Amino acid sequence: MNREDFEMLDSDLIYFDNGATTFKPNLVIDKIVDYYTKYTANAHRGDYDISQKVDYEYEETREVVRKFINASSSKEIVFTKGTTESMNMIVFSFMRYYLKKGDEVLITKAEHASNVLPWFELEKEIGIKVKFIPLTDDYKVTLDNLKKVLTKKTKVVSLAYITNVIGDIRPIKEISEFIHKHNILLCVDGAQSVPHIKTDVTLDDIDFLAFSSHKMLGPTGVGVLYAKKKYLEVMRPFNYGGGMNQRFESTKELEYKEVPLRLEAGTQNIAGVLGLKEAILYLEKVGIEKIHEHEMNLRKYLIERLKEVDNITVYNESSESGIVIFNIDKIFAEDTSRYLNHYHICVRAGNHCTKMVKDELGVKNTCRISLYLYNTKEEIDKLIEVLKNSKDIYNIIL
Ligand code: ALA
Repeated sequence: MNREDFEMLDSDLIYFDNGATTFKPNLVIDKIVDYYTKYTANAHRGDYDISQKVDYEYEETREVVRKFINASSSKEIVFTKGTTESMNMIVFSFMRYYLKKGDEVLITKAEHASNVLPWFELEKEIGIKVKFIPLTDDYKVTLDNLKKVLTKKTKVVSLAYITNVIGDIRPIKEISEFIHKHNILLCVDGAQSVPHIKTDVTLDDIDFLAFSSHKMLGPTGVGVLYAKKKYLEVMRPFNYGGGMNQRFESTKELEYKEVPLRLEAGTQNIAGVLGLKEAILYLEKVGIEKIHEHEMNLRKYLIERLKEVDNITVYNESSESGIVIFNIDKIFAEDTSRYLNHYHICVRAGNHCTKMVKDELGVKNTCRISLYLYNTKEEIDKLIEVLKNSKDIYNIIL
């Protein structure tokens, strides 16, 4: 991987907020510009050359996504606006009809809002019960802990593969093998995992997966919903309109298209979808295993070096991703972030849209560093140098 591939890195910024979004390689940006300057046309609607080129590339992206997550068919790939929309589709277009009053859904207190709030709403709407899998002392999910809250009424387990605050990798394959023996469905929030570790929905036997393009070098406003075909086929459309119907008559007779098009009403974010293809090809070229290895090496180095700084608490030392959360004693996380910004270092501070994790961590707000393929040890050295001088924090930010 070449840092020159990213124009955003051509500055003195140190960007450690990759859990929020990532920089885009130039070829992703070039693809979007190409689409808007050389072959702008709608998808699946025209018979002329540029429109057919768009159709071809749009569907080619579906195949690139399929291969990237090892789904068995590109018909199992639906383009959405992002992880949030994908999660909402799973809950409101499928689970709302699949689940009954009293059925139980297991999540954890470390889930992001988009894997919590749709379930809470469904609880209010149809009377399912959302329960929390207890976490271990280092905030992880284990099958043993899952079994503690599992009952005959459990119908769904819905977990992030990697959480956006703790950054732990969940034992999804082990969970999947166990719960499927009990006819329980597995729903996975892949927002923080698909960009960073090899995803194999077939190997892990995942029923539903949601992820976003913008956290994996692609454009914002595009996401993916993967679901096994048997579930996708009975999913009710979230939107009705053009592009998803075969025909409709004044007699109200109508026929919808097959999935995935049935679930993609209206003009989609075509430029975004085409950009996503380039992002995935870039990630594949670098190698997703190499990216994870790089992040783990950086993580180890970061944690070692953070220990040189006085009065720092790292909360997730044993996690297995590029996410590291910390606080400096007696300093608000947001103040640390503003102080680092003074030196052009970007981190995220706050509750990171994961507002229940405070019950587990014992602190409401943390500073989060989330690493990616373009981060370096030199950037970490600069961060440590700045943190070591943090005695002056309030002089600098006030
Ligand atoms: N969900 C994104 C994050 O964790 C925005 O920062």
